[in-house]
Amino acid sequence: PFLSFVMCGGSGSRLWPLSRIDKPKQFHRLSGKESLLSATLKRLQSAPDLNGRITVIGAKNHQMQIEKTISAGSDIKMILEPVARNTAAVAALATLSALSGCDDALILLCPADHDISSTEQFWQSVAQGISAASRGAIVTFGLLPERPETGYGYIEAGEPEDNGYAITRFVEKPDHETAIAFIRQGRFFWNSGIFLFRASTMREAFLQFAPDIWQHTEGALQHADCSAEAIYLRDEFYQSVPAISFDHAIMEKADRRMLIPASFSWSDLGSWQSLCKLEQQHDNQDDCGNVLIGDVIAHDCSNSYIRSEAGLLTISGLKDMAVIALKDATFISPLAQSHQVQAIVKELTQQK
Ligand code: GDD
Ligand code: MG
Repeated sequence: PFLSFVMCGGSGSRLWPLSRIDKPKQFHRLSGKESLLSATLKRLQSAPDLNGRITVIGAKNHQMQIEKTISAGSDIKMILEPVARNTAAVAALATLSALSGCDDALILLCPADHDISSTEQFWQSVAQGISAASRGAIVTFGLLPERPETGYGYIEAGEPEDNGYAITRFVEKPDHETAIAFIRQGRFFWNSGIFLFRASTMREAFLQFAPDIWQHTEGALQHADCSAEAIYLRDEFYQSVPAISFDHAIMEKADRRMLIPASFSWSDLGSWQSLCKLEQQHDNQDDCGNVLIGDVIAHDCSNSYIRSEAGLLTISGLKDMAVIALKDATFISPLAQSHQVQAIVKELTQQK
């Protein structure tokens, strides 16, 4: 069997103030016509010949928003977390839940926060990874880096293997200088954050590299409350799962990893800068490269992302800027530094 799991419980703090704890970016309509989660589910539902079950793993607090996105009548299931324990725990949940169905299923683990232009090319890439994953590799999909982005994982491709490459190194979120060096060396790809593997392969990897995460997650699943639609993890058990990303806990260490160069075009929409770039690629810009959303008048501005949901916003003389004005909060920053909004979110959370 082929099972898809959607990781949907992140907070998307780099898109503050639009992305909030109660409604993070995966539930927003950012660039296309529907929310990122909705687009992700549609993509997975269109799997050619694979016909697998889809499970959304997300926050209990977002249950209503997830249910609203899952169309009525579909048999998409949910695993709901009382607290976020990062993506290694999510991968362990997916694997354990697949193994409880007995068969050694193939698992496609997907983020909920990406824009992928072509569903057909997405499935072509997945198909290219199936034989390697079936034989015990953890397959990831790589993109050619366009800039020294520090918000992504980097994969160094080794020898050609199967339909892709063996992986020499996996480095999660390097610093700026390292990212520049990786791009110069030319053998590096961005990690798309989409993974394909057998349940048994992942169980072995967890037992070898992160046995504590595995055991705590297993315990939490054993004590979970279940209904026909959802598995509700209980706080007292899930809380003790160490919060580490899948990339650090497993991908940086695993032995049999494989890279498939992605044939789809992809954007992480991880920051105002990447959202601005994507809108420009879709030609949603004025003659000076400004992306203007809402009631905005821009005079003598260029290459800026300006969004107002708080009445008329007028700006003049801005270049390469992000201005996000909402009813209760405003954020203004050079686009290139807009990811630093994360530090502001951290400060705000600490104040609470
Ligand atoms: N259920 C659940 N619980 N989901 C989570 C949690 C959690 O605690 N934390 C994050 N997620 C979800 C997010 O909603 C997102 O869809 C996905 O898991 C990935 O998490 P991010 O927090 O967005 O990761 P990232 O973007 O910083 O980094 C990952 O993705 C990059 C590409 O977008 C890594 O895999 C990088 O290596 C990769 O380049
Ligand atoms: Mg992300």
